Amino acid sequence: MKSRTESIHVTFVRTEDLNAAERTSIVDLCIAAHQEEDFKNLFSYIPSGGRHFLASRGDELVSHAVVTTRWLQPEGQPILKTAYVDAVATLPAYQRQGYGSAVMEHLAKNISDYEIAGLETERPAFYERLGWEAWRGALAGRSEQGLIPTPGQEGIMILRLAGTPGINLDGMLTIECQEGRIW
Ligand SMILES: CC(C)(COP(=O)(O)OP(=O)(O)OC[C@H]1O[C@@H](n2cnc3c(N)ncnc32)[C@H](O)[C@@H]1OP(=O)(O)O)[C@@H](O)C(=O)NCCC(=O)NCCS
Repeated sequence: MKSRTESIHVTFVRTEDLNAAERTSIVDLCIAAHQEEDFKNLFSYIPSGGRHFLASRGDELVSHAVVTTRWLQPEGQPILKTAYVDAVATLPAYQRQGYGSAVMEHLAKNISDYEIAGLETERPAFYERLGWEAWRGALAGRSEQGLIPTPGQEGIMILRLAGTPGINLDGMLTIECQEGRIW
């Protein structure tokens, strides 16, 4: 029997290979799904180096997620090359039809060169169903000045990959501070 997501075709495009129309579609899709105008700056935040996973229906882009490289460090482990997922979005009219799951399943199969995956979300149940695990321990950013605790931060999740070492979800998890954001 076919699974719900099997018939949905997902493509993988690097940021530098996206044309102008595709960039516009991705930005419009993220704004429509998240009701967040800041997504108009998505390609300033990700000028290159992202892996975009795209699901379409006919000619219309309906779902998207992007992976960029970040650096998580679970307590007691080295810094891990991390597939950090952002801009997960499905057009409102097409939600709850399996597109988001198909995008995330395809993404998980195309990051085997990473040591772990991570993301921040307000919808943990959606990702838990797909094998992601909520971080339970303390969280902090790593800066040149040292650790910046982020005690109010919720919704940090990780996905174990083939190369992920044994990690303790109750330990501390840190990430390199980026300009404008920690998580
Ligand atoms: C979160 C989001 C990306 C999910 O995309 P989606 O395409 O709706 O995802 P799916 O259809 O694969 O799954 C969504 C839900 O619909 C359910 N579903 C999937 N196909 C279904 C179907 N045919 N019938 C009924 N339910 C279905 C899934 O079980 C899932 O339930 P859950 O979230 O309670 O686990 C989308 O809702 C979205 O863009 N939301 C707004 C922005 C946002 O919150 N982004 C994520 C935060 S980082």
